Amino acid sequence: MSVREEFDEWAATGKDRGMEDRHWHTAKHVLARMPVEAGDDVLDLGTGSGYALRALRERGIGRGYGLDGAPEMARNAREYTDDGAVGFAVGDFDELPFADDSLDHVFSMEAFYYAADPVNTLREVRRVLRPGGTFYCAVNYFEESETTHAWQENISVEMTLWSREEYREAFREAGLYVAEQDAIPDREVEIPDAEEFPVDGYETREAMVDRYRTWGTLLTVGVAP
Ligand SMILES: C[S@@+](CC[C@H](N)C(=O)[O-])C[C@H]1O[C@@H](n2cnc3c(N)ncnc32)[C@H](O)[C@@H]1O
Repeated sequence: MSVREEFDEWAATGKDRGMEDRHWHTAKHVLARMPVEAGDDVLDLGTGSGYALRALRERGIGRGYGLDGAPEMARNAREYTDDGAVGFAVGDFDELPFADDSLDHVFSMEAFYYAADPVNTLREVRRVLRPGGTFYCAVNYFEESETTHAWQENISVEMTLWSREEYREAFREAGLYVAEQDAIPDREVEIPDAEEFPVDGYETREAMVDRYRTWGTLLTVGVAP
């Protein structure tokens, strides 16, 4: 299945809003750290419902661009806002439809590892960022968060499983400085008492604690020279 087929189905069954609710637990902390200024132009890679751009517009960014490979995702995102300064387009991480040095910041939540060629995507991010521009790349699926590894079994699109170090190396290889890397715990998901397990696909309480409280979301911040 292609990105389009897989995620069009997610959008059609309301999973876009479901992801927004869950991802917001940690995405809001990532967004709060972004050094956006009034009038900045921001790209959201794999925008889903477009919630990140709606939130950043409240902080005064100029234009927000949401890119997604699934037309149904982009169509839903458009419906969720009447803000004319936010636009949604269908496109692929392989080739970003933006000119060189044209954006102040790029954000991505739970989407980057679906890129067919993630190093090329990083080069594309580097290309479209203005000097000093930032890439806030947030993922829940990464090597150290072992309980997430099984996710690949339930999704047809190939996912890249990098470690924290591999993210840093790839950012540098693509020409981005690594300004910060951090694991942001999800403190909002409720974790039941030990005797209630297995629940929600977690065999033990320890596994669920590992997924949400120990690891949560891996944030890697790149800066364009
Ligand atoms: C797991 S969802 C996350 C959506 C949103 N960022 C969020 O936090 O809820 C991943 C999104 O990335 C998009 N996507 C995946 N691979 C892509 C690619 N190669 N090019 C463009 N979009 C892609 C999917 O269509 C989907 O909307």
